[in-house]
This record gives sequence, structure tokens and C-alpha cells, in this order.
Amino acid sequence: MILLVGATGFLGPVVLKKLIKNNYKVRCLVRADSDRSKLKEAAGDFQSQLTFAAGDLTGNDSMDPALKDVSQAVYMIDLEHTGPVKNFLDAARKAGLKRVVFISSTTVLVPLKSKVKDKKLSSEKLIEKTALDWTILRPTMIFGSGDDENFSKMLRFIKKRGFFITFGRGNNLIQPVYIEDVALAVSGVLENKKTFKKIYNIAGKTPLKYNQMLALIQKKLKRSFKVIRLPLGPSRSIISIYCRLTADPALVPEQIDRMGIDKAYSYQDAKHDFGFSPISFEEGMDRLIKDLKA
Ligand SMILES: NC(=O)c1ccc[n+]([C@@H]2O[C@H](COP(=O)([O-])OP(=O)(O)OC[C@H]3O[C@@H](n4cnc5c(N)ncnc54)[C@H](OP(=O)(O)O)[C@@H]3O)[C@@H](O)[C@H]2O)c1
Repeated sequence: MILLVGATGFLGPVVLKKLIKNNYKVRCLVRADSDRSKLKEAAGDFQSQLTFAAGDLTGNDSMDPALKDVSQAVYMIDLEHTGPVKNFLDAARKAGLKRVVFISSTTVLVPLKSKVKDKKLSSEKLIEKTALDWTILRPTMIFGSGDDENFSKMLRFIKKRGFFITFGRGNNLIQPVYIEDVALAVSGVLENKKTFKKIYNIAGKTPLKYNQMLALIQKKLKRSFKVIRLPLGPSRSIISIYCRLTADPALVPEQIDRMGIDKAYSYQDAKHDFGFSPISFEEGMDRLIKDLKA
């Protein structure tokens, strides 16, 4: 039995689908008010392979029922939340669980100071110190299902408004990874002892400039849209003020800082150890646009 932790989010249903296809029995840890519908939908005709265990890793909930008879787990709660990581590691140790795949992020490699990065790194350090057979996967920006917060949102915005706002000149490199390639990476490492106690970058096939990405989207959508470019420095100052005045800001200064930075990462180790071979951004975009149309 595999336990999925943080499965009700964006990545979870795609990982679940992949594992069920590979004949695993999967239990998902869900909070009382989590929406389970996408997981049930992902399991399709194989509902008998899917079960749920209620529990919240931020509280004092016992993880015993969730971890009973579990031989492997995939942990997908954002590592920014160090509390749930500590609670999970503790529960895993008590239950005698050995094998866990953790999903981190290439955010930890961005050469900028950030609290989020520090928290994720400190979670990774906690994991590395355990006696678990851990593997940490660090995906870049994930895209490719109708409800992702990245490109689907962007495509819908462009379609509705006919323009797009961006920060900086757009010459920085990005390397988004298609969601099914992340799920393939999870299933590729799960039983592979070569990957125990190792960290892997999980990125798209090749890096591309932000501007190339915009041009490709224009081509794929078969419509031109206006790109409004705002300068990085002044935009950062305005957004800092906006953040001070807003309780739940839609944009934070760190996001503007990241726009000026190359985010291209080698996945050679993943290719070598478990044959990771991701699709290109163009192919992923074709699939995403097809899904959105459907
Ligand atoms: N999305 C990306 O582009 C991207 C890129 C790189 C790395 N990653 C990493 O990939 C992983 C999955 O990302 P995602 O986008 O799928 O995340 P997400 O959509 O934000 O989902 C997070 C999941 O964590 C669960 N969760 C949060 N706190 C919990 C708690 N205390 N107890 C139990 N469950 C809890 C949520 O459950 P509820 O439904 O109950 O809220 C949800 O299932 C994360 O580690 C993320 O950092 C994501």
C-alpha cells in the first residue's frame, strides 16, 4: 500500500492516476474538509484501488490509521510548511515506514534570499537526517492540467483579456516541466534503490527564454495578444507598497525578483538513474491546449 500525502492538490490526482495504472493500492491522507472528487475522478474505473484516511498533519491527529500496512509514501505537501514535515517524519519513524518520496522544488536553487526557500531547505535537511530511504524530487514550475495555477491561468487570462502583463525584458531562461513527467518521475524512483538518499532536479526537456515561451503561446493559440512589459525595479517598489497595504496580496516582490533570474536546471542525474526523459514545452503546450479545449 502506498500513502499519498497532499494528494488533493494540483499534482496529486496525476500521481494517483499513474500509480493506480501501475497496479498499486493507494491510500490518500485527506483533511476533513478536503475535496476528494478529483482523486475519485482520477481513479476512474479502479475505485477499489483507492482508499482515504482522514488526518491533518498540522494538528495532533494520529497518523496510525493512515500509515497502517503502508510500505511506501509520496509526500506532496509544500515543504515550506515545516510543521507537517516534522509531524510526518515522526509518525513515519514510529510506524516503521522506510520508503518516502518527497516533492520539493527548484525554488531552493534560486540565487535569491527568501523565507520560502529557507523553509523548504530546512525541511530538506530534516528529511536528509532521517534513517528513511528518502528521495527528494525538485520539480521546476509544473504545468499541463486544466487547473494549474501557472499556464492554464495565463491562457485563460489571455483569452479573456487579449493581453498579458509581464515584468522585465523576458530574456531570462525558464524550464517548466509537464505534470505527467513529474508523475513519471515519482513512479520511476519509487522502487528504484539507486535513487535512495538522493536529490534530483525534475525539469522540462530544454530551457527557453521567457520571450520564446510567450511567442510559442501566441503560435499555439493562433492569435496575437499584446504583451505589456513593466520594468523590474519600479514594479518591485510598487508591489512592495501594495503588499504592505493588502492582507492577502496576489503578487509579492520576490516573484518580481525571480522574473529577472535564469531558472534552467540539469536533470542529467535523473536521466542516468531512472531514465527521466521529459517532453518539450511545445509538446506540453499542445497537450494542455487540447485538454483545455476538451
Ligand atoms: N505546482 C507547481 O508548479 C510546483 C512546482 C514545483 C514544486 N511543487 C511542489 O509539488 C508539491 C505538490 O504541489 P501542488 O501544486 O500539487 O500543491 P497544492 O496544489 O498546493 O496541494 C497541496 C496539498 O497539500 C495538502 N495539505 C496542505 N497542508 C496539509 C496538512 N496540514 N495536512 C494534510 N494535507 C495538507 C493540501 O490539502 P487540502 O486539499 O486539504 O488543502 C493539498 O492536497 C508541493 O511540494 C510543491 O511545493 C509544485
